[in-house]
Amino acid sequence: MKLLVINGPNLNFLGIRERGIYGTEDYMYLTGLLEKKAITEGHDLEVFQSNCEGEIIDKIQAAYHDKVDGIIINPGAYTHYSYAIRDALASIEVPVIEVHISNVHRREEFRHVSVTAPVCTGQIVGLGLRGYLLAMDYLTGKV
Ligand code: DQA
Repeated sequence: MKLLVINGPNLNFLGIRERGIYGTEDYMYLTGLLEKKAITEGHDLEVFQSNCEGEIIDKIQAAYHDKVDGIIINPGAYTHYSYAIRDALASIEVPVIEVHISNVHRREEFRHVSVTAPVCTGQIVGLGLRGYLLAMDYLTGKV
């Protein structure tokens, strides 16, 4: 299967930012984890990260043209207010799983709202980096 992982702002700072919340593993560790799983299971995976809203929207639109089979997205803080990313996700008929490393519901009130989740297939929250692996298992039909 052709899979795309999109990580939004500040996720490239994993292992540096708020380690008590996001853990000590860095972004390279996350990409390695996902790439290793994809190779082992025979999937074609691209992992993309951007701190810019427009680049994330361009990537979602490109996924439509590239006939991607499934998207895993962690929009970072854009989750809570980007109607533009929501509209981009709503434009395509590709299964999308939204992942959050932290349990956003145990944090500040502004993190309790996701404007993107209603246009996603499902959401995985608070299970750390393993949330991405679980999302991959769902999209590939492994679970
Ligand atoms: C996050 C939660 C967001 O509220 C935050 O802005 C992030 C990371 C998570 O993975 O837990 O950047 O999406």
